Amino acid sequence: MDRPTVVLAMAEDAASYVSALERAGFDVIHQDVTEWLAAGQQFDLAVLDCDGDLEVVQRTHELLHGEKRTPTLLLLGEEYPDFVQQAGAGDELALKPLPADALVYRLQALLIRAGRHLTAEAPVGGEDGVTAIGEGRVISVFAPKGGVGKTTIAVNLAVALRTQTRERVLLLDADVGVGNVTSVLQVPASYGLIDLADSDPSEWTDAAFDQATATHPGSGLRVLTWGTEPGDSERISVDLLLAALKWARSHHTYVIVDNHPGYDDRTMAMLTVANEIFLVVTPEVGPIRNSSQFLELARQVGLGDVVRVVVNRANHGVSMADMAQSLGLPVSATIVSNGPKAVIAANEGTPIITKFPKERISTDLHDVARLVTHQGVKETSAQARRWRLPFARPSHA
Ligand SMILES: Nc1ncnc2c1ncn2[C@@H]1O[C@H](COP(=O)(O)OP(=O)(O)OP(=O)(O)O)[C@@H](O)[C@H]1O
Ligand SMILES: [Mg+2]
Repeated sequence: MDRPTVVLAMAEDAASYVSALERAGFDVIHQDVTEWLAAGQQFDLAVLDCDGDLEVVQRTHELLHGEKRTPTLLLLGEEYPDFVQQAGAGDELALKPLPADALVYRLQALLIRAGRHLTAEAPVGGEDGVTAIGEGRVISVFAPKGGVGKTTIAVNLAVALRTQTRERVLLLDADVGVGNVTSVLQVPASYGLIDLADSDPSEWTDAAFDQATATHPGSGLRVLTWGTEPGDSERISVDLLLAALKWARSHHTYVIVDNHPGYDDRTMAMLTVANEIFLVVTPEVGPIRNSSQFLELARQVGLGDVVRVVVNRANHGVSMADMAQSLGLPVSATIVSNGPKAVIAANEGTPIITKFPKERISTDLHDVARLVTHQGVKETSAQARRWRLPFARPSHA
């Protein structure tokens, strides 16, 4: 497969971006950019720094949006040109300063959403290298707040996908330090990512990840955990998680990621490269407020259109209509509350959908899986455009 090409139109020195992108498997053009574009050269992706000379920035933007529109990431400083306000679908926004590894994640995610797979030959990280991502579909289960049901949903979603499709499905426990999907899903003891944490990235091979993965006997779901000892958590790097995800994508049709609540680097990486983010919310004021804040951030960084709202314990509290209104997004799926059944299943290490297949909670969880198999996040183009615009700058307070 060809290496994806990216054109970097930077106002400042691009050296750190160029080296990070090349390590991650991209071919980069960063000199004579307008000349290349004016000559009709096509690129898979573009990065346009809006801080440069306005005329040059506008001209470059026009060239990138000619007959064939190049998926473009606009880098914004304090001020940005007017055309940013009118930028249509296809442009994404990132606020400066954007670290080189974050630029790589953003471009990987943009490429995936533009329908191109990343090169499988990309190196699996380097000294401070970043990994390119492979083929399967990644669903990141996330909530900014703990305890709303992420792990319950991730485990049952993964098993439901496996039983519904018989495709290869992998559950990645990325709730580093705290999470342990194996406490609610019994799988044979195996290694985890922690066993690769001190190895050189050259040893993060397919065979190594394969060996670190367990198989759930009842369903055939594959389960890769980060580890079990909270004290080990600092040793799990973003690079290792991304390398695991790259491997997982290349060998599975669906990869479900159970995330840590919050905005740490590892979690942000898992969200940025996801094809879809399932935002788990309970119908309570606190979680709704936290989720609104997350959605605002997601929209600002160009991830708004991959988020789907999944309401857990949906039969109590704030109505679905009010939730959709507060969040500015439709509710894509709801799951009823059923504490007794959830506890029995978890204590047994069995998925709820297997233990209590006829209960409403199980049919609801199966419906969450159908969101994935029926494909994609539907977005109205008007919404998509609106979400990509920087109506409010994030507070760095
Ligand atoms: N629909 C539901 N009905 C009843 N109980 C539920 C439901 N979903 C989850 N629970 C229970 O709520 C508790 C928290 O769920 P879970 O561990 O899945 O949340 P989490 O978001 O992963 O939490 P953490 O942030 O700590 O990882 C568990 O005891 C689980 O059994
Ligand atoms: Mg959890």
